[in-house]
Amino acid sequence: MINIKTQVGIIGAGPAGLVLANWLRKYGIASVIIELRSREYVEGRVRAGLVEQNTKDILKELRLDARMNKEGIVHDGVYLSFDEERIHIPFGELTGGRTISIYGQQEIVKDLTDAWLQEGGELHFETKATKIVDFDTKSPKIYFEKDGEEGIMECDFVAACDGFHGIGRKTLPKKSFQSYDITYPFSWLGILAHVAPSTDELIYAYHENGFALHSLRSEMVSRLYIQVDNDESVDNWSDDRIWSELSKRLATPGFELEEGPIFEKGITPMRSHMIDSLQSGRLFLSGDAAHIVPPTGGKGMNLAIADVKHLVDAFVDFYSNNSEAKMDSYTRIALQRIWRAQDFSNFMTKLFHKQDAHGSFTYRLQKAKFDYLKVSRAYKTTIAENYVGLPFESFEI
Ligand code: FAD
Ligand code: DHB
Repeated sequence: MINIKTQVGIIGAGPAGLVLANWLRKYGIASVIIELRSREYVEGRVRAGLVEQNTKDILKELRLDARMNKEGIVHDGVYLSFDEERIHIPFGELTGGRTISIYGQQEIVKDLTDAWLQEGGELHFETKATKIVDFDTKSPKIYFEKDGEEGIMECDFVAACDGFHGIGRKTLPKKSFQSYDITYPFSWLGILAHVAPSTDELIYAYHENGFALHSLRSEMVSRLYIQVDNDESVDNWSDDRIWSELSKRLATPGFELEEGPIFEKGITPMRSHMIDSLQSGRLFLSGDAAHIVPPTGGKGMNLAIADVKHLVDAFVDFYSNNSEAKMDSYTRIALQRIWRAQDFSNFMTKLFHKQDAHGSFTYRLQKAKFDYLKVSRAYKTTIAENYVGLPFESFEI
């Protein structure tokens, strides 16, 4: 039996768990992370790329932004297209200088893992949390399995940062929360390709064939997505078919899409999932463990890190002031931003995805929104401030 004792036991070495551990260390609060997958797997997992202003500010505060500043790409705006017409939303001008950066989630995960391990942090890869018990007492425990051996982590608090399929949410007593779900009737087929981006900033596009998004990773790597049916398989999508569909959906007069070798293809279903309590006793949930937003708008990783900010505030208040006030308000404070992000992600999803026949009532409402965006600075500001992320002060703390 392996025995570990710490103050905060963290399950999951994704963005939420790693930011939490690194941040707590700044305040002298001890934590240990256990992670189901190998280091290679976690660091290679292709996911998010959009880093909003608050996340950049947090990484700066943690002094973990050096590589992002060097290799990430700052964007001061975004293009929105509808039926081959394109407009630009300038973030800086509409939000008082806030921006986003494009920097792969797995790069953030590498930077956070390196920083944690270099300063002697304890992180157990290929270790599966199997059970969380006694979280209604002052000494909760996480049972785990590592190399076929059973282990137990005794801690003051458990932070379940173990993503959508983890054990944190499943452990919350059923009667302590309500859940809300939407399953969208489409998925995203995402690719990475060795080709220079054909755009200087991201393009979200509605087309009668469905949604398309042109994002990027570097001067030589592009990231693109298209809307596909939920039952689609990547096997039905040859490289030629993907590029042909992307060029149709992203077309506007004068725009040319460069093509290149595709080296990664994957299909992601789209859903919204919410629970209305992120805590039970000494068990706290952060990130995808507690909520899922559809990817349109790039909020998932940013929300995970925003949750952690409130959790750090709560633990610091506890260990420095012996106060449980911020723990008690964790759910209420975090849910304000999470619901805002659910609404924005749902809005962006419905505006740019094909939901009904081209020309239908739903289509005309989508088009009416886009036409209004063209003329209204107020409407553009709404999109800009949500896209770059509202400052923490915008919500009641
Ligand atoms: P995760 O990253 O899922 O980490 C949880 C960790 O817990 C995992 O490493 C998992 O292996 C581990 N774990 C699970 N169960 C156990 C267990 N029993 N024991 C031990 N460990 C366990 N978000 C954005 O902000 N911007 C974007 O541009 C964006 N684009 C996206 C595009 C795609 C295609 C996808 C799929 C997602 C995108 N997201 C985006 C969402 C974002 O990737 C997630 O919201 C983010 O990974 C959440 O971080 P997390 O730390 O909460 O969870
Ligand atoms: C990316 C993903 C998103 O979901 C999004 O809205 C913008 C960018 C990306 O992977 O780059």
